[in-house]
Amino acid sequence: MFGIDILGTGIYTPSIRVTNDDMAKIVDTNDEWISTRTGIKSRNLTDGEPTWKMGAEAAKQALENAGIDGSEVGLIIDTTVTSDFMTPSVACLIQREIGAANAAAFDLNAACSGFVYALDTAKRFLQTDDNLKYVLVVANETLSNFVDFSDRSSCILFGDGAAAAVVTRSEKLFASFLGADGKGSVALYAKNAPVYHPFRKTEKNLMETNEFAAGTTKLIQDGKEVYKFATKALPEAASRAAEKVGLDISEIDWFIPHQANIRIIETAAKNIGVSMDKFIVNIENHGNTSSASIPIALHEAIAEGKIKKGEKICLVGFGAGLTMGAVIMEY
Ligand code: COA
Repeated sequence: MFGIDILGTGIYTPSIRVTNDDMAKIVDTNDEWISTRTGIKSRNLTDGEPTWKMGAEAAKQALENAGIDGSEVGLIIDTTVTSDFMTPSVACLIQREIGAANAAAFDLNAACSGFVYALDTAKRFLQTDDNLKYVLVVANETLSNFVDFSDRSSCILFGDGAAAAVVTRSEKLFASFLGADGKGSVALYAKNAPVYHPFRKTEKNLMETNEFAAGTTKLIQDGKEVYKFATKALPEAASRAAEKVGLDISEIDWFIPHQANIRIIETAAKNIGVSMDKFIVNIENHGNTSSASIPIALHEAIAEGKIKKGEKICLVGFGAGLTMGAVIMEY
């Protein structure tokens, strides 16, 4: 089977640790509500370091752990939803920072499913380009850029952070499923500010004539809708990936789900009939870091010696779009 091997991972955790008690100083909330409804105890926020900088630090660590020099990387895929620039891509800024002069570079936006989408993309590039040896996937998010810190139902959920992985081709097990439901885009979004060029005739902000909320570029979320989607998407994506290679869900050693809410993970585990003991969970310390959440959890689980070489892992995500995806592979 054509598969991929993860040669090394790295993470970057920004310096400002914000506890639930800290959150209670800015919105009407408390540790008990946040802990019981979400499983989150604290999250880390940037002190102004840009998204690309966090990604570059995680990438350097991943390269070091993989024993690869930046110059050997042939492709960089960055999964951020919080790019520092309209252009260039964050992937190009990371390429510059880590000396990956031989790498093509682009960003891929699949929100919190981004890392899963990028692993699948990396595998397809490796499969079709014999000259490509190493792909660097970077997931870096500064959600504090667009989180509405006056909205208690959403601001308590999110954190900033970055993770990276170096992957190469292998003959190991690989299966993936990627999906999207654009009708659900209204459930979770953040708009760009409207732009008026000098020749424009319409003064009305056309973005605000449809169902997307007016007058804000902050994150808008229908928590209940996203919750409903997530508890179905996790089992569905994992099952559909497993089906492709005739694998029974019970044969998977570890599930590394997107870390959005402990109750979503618990409900999804129940729906798929898998014990929570098989789920890697670190939401308590990081909150939801969008596309960075799965690779941060993966890196920590590897570092703790939980996930061992040869074990079957299922990385499974869902997020804005709405998107969902799963990759099943042998570590
Ligand atoms: N602290 C205290 N009370 C809060 C609160 C907070 N931080 N946030 C909301 N509340 C209140 C609400 O105002 C509401 O009060 P009311 O009953 O007086 O109206 C009450 O708590 C219950 O709110 P509700 O929205 O029903 O809570 P919930 O159990 O659905 O939890 C979320 C809300 C956002 C935690 C939950 O819906 C969720 O996790 N959704 C998925 C979000 C997600 O994962 N997004 C990212 C996807 S990638």
